[in-house]
Amino acid sequence: MLDHLVRILPVTTIKDERGALGIVELARSCGFSASRFYFLYDVRKPRGGHAHRRLRQCFIAFAGRAEITVDSGSERRTIVLDSPEQALIINPMVWRDLDMTPDTVLGVLASEPYDEAEYIRDYETFTALALERIGNDCPVR
Ligand code: TYD
Repeated sequence: MLDHLVRILPVTTIKDERGALGIVELARSCGFSASRFYFLYDVRKPRGGHAHRRLRQCFIAFAGRAEITVDSGSERRTIVLDSPEQALIINPMVWRDLDMTPDTVLGVLASEPYDEAEYIRDYETFTALALERIGNDCPVR
């Protein structure tokens, strides 16, 4: 189930004597276009603790190391992002918990503008909705 909801995407990286250039073609490789970019840094406590009803996101650790625990409601996995050469794509209806050190800079490209109404911040509500979707064979992609 989680394999349909999350995906690690190798970031195309062009390196030469001047340094490295990382490229993510959003529409082509992520399957969505971003309407918002935000980033987390100087993080001192766990974050996340929610799912999104509609939002698609692409996470890249520009510096440091982030542990992202993803949960479909029936399966849970921790993914470590510790290189700007890989991105994590998260589709809608994935609960996530984020742990990172203060030196970590985690960039997030999001498919939709911010809308608190599309967050699910209660885990019981999330699992009930996730099970309902599986039962209805509701497509998540
Ligand atoms: P939240 O998404 O809960 O952060 P995280 O997943 O990193 O723990 O957002 C924290 C607060 O910031 C919350 O009050 C909503 C607000 N916020 C915005 O106003 N706009 C945004 O684009 C984001 C991502 C959050």
